[in-house]
Amino acid sequence: MSEPDDLIIHTKGLTKSYGPHTALDDLNLSVPRGATGLLGQNGAGKSTFLKTILGLITATSGEGTVLGYDIQTQGSEIRQRIGYMPEYEALNPNMDAIHQVRYSGELLGMNPKVALNRAHEALQFVGIGEQRYREISSFSTGMKQATKLACAIIHDPDLIIADEPSNGLDMNTREFMISTLNTMVNDGQRSVLMASHLMDDVERVCDNIVLLHKGRLAAQGRIEDLKEIDREIEIHVWGSASALEELLKDRGFGVRREGRVMRIAHTVEDTATHILQAASEVGAQIRKMHEYEASLEDLFLAIMDNLGYAVKSSEDLLASTVEARRVDAPQSLGGGGA
Ligand SMILES: Nc1ncnc2c1ncn2[C@@H]1O[C@H](COP(=O)(O)OP(=O)(O)OP(=O)(O)O)[C@@H](O)[C@H]1O
Ligand SMILES: [Mg+2]
Repeated sequence: MSEPDDLIIHTKGLTKSYGPHTALDDLNLSVPRGATGLLGQNGAGKSTFLKTILGLITATSGEGTVLGYDIQTQGSEIRQRIGYMPEYEALNPNMDAIHQVRYSGELLGMNPKVALNRAHEALQFVGIGEQRYREISSFSTGMKQATKLACAIIHDPDLIIADEPSNGLDMNTREFMISTLNTMVNDGQRSVLMASHLMDDVERVCDNIVLLHKGRLAAQGRIEDLKEIDREIEIHVWGSASALEELLKDRGFGVRREGRVMRIAHTVEDTATHILQAASEVGAQIRKMHEYEASLEDLFLAIMDNLGYAVKSSEDLLASTVEARRVDAPQSLGGGGA
């Protein structure tokens, strides 16, 4: 568990309503230093959450701090100290990149000369140093995203808050964005909070996640810890696969099967021994056996589909039994998938 000092963002009962619509519902969140992914489907409340903790929009009720500053009263202090990369275009198409980035430094109160020097560095860092004198209107989506990131890091903040940083990017630019974020976290010792609905991107940058669903907190914690709920052993079976499946199910193991490939919920210490025992009883031959590494996507589905939305932490997730989870097999394993 993190010490409070390690928490960079903290909220208690945070609620935001737009008229009758509750976009954020009673959120109690703790975000530690490091890289955290803010996950959720469209409309889950990710952007609303980011804008609320930046003091750009006012919470309806509840409280929170970012880097120790109060989100309700110290929005401008917060925005001075973090770098925010907004979801939608925040760029002036008629400016060239260097002036756009310098301008965002000036808005933060930087001296124009310092801001210009820093703008050169920031654009170099995000990979568009060569194009810095071009008008933004001529930029690709990837170059615009990079420019937005350069604006966010002009004052060298310790915390970068990025809303869908890889949205709309093709494979190469997406790759570059991910590696840039990784560099900031790993080499620069900076913290990143990135909203995304792309699990792969989050998994590659982040150690922690916060998962929102319809404005509510569905899960938060270390990805590694959360994955504990979704451990399985995968086996390849030759002969008597149906009999083996039946027997394992009779003995209380969750089994998903597609043909000769079976995944058995790894719930007890000696699951493997039980599998081998059952296989020898029914005369099935096991050709391969290994621990199946769940992806963040698997985890997301397991949480969403099977746990309801009252789950608050990895401990709560771990407390629920595999039977209660009823993990539906992905399409590749013959299940209904997502
Ligand atoms: N200014 C607004 N006025 C009214 N409703 C809003 C406003 N902004 C957002 N909402 C609603 O609040 C909910 C959360 O929206 P939000 O943009 O925070 O979601 P999101 O998780 O960022 O979604 P996306 O993945 O599409 O970016 C949605 O139902 C949205 O329609
Ligand atoms: Mg959004």
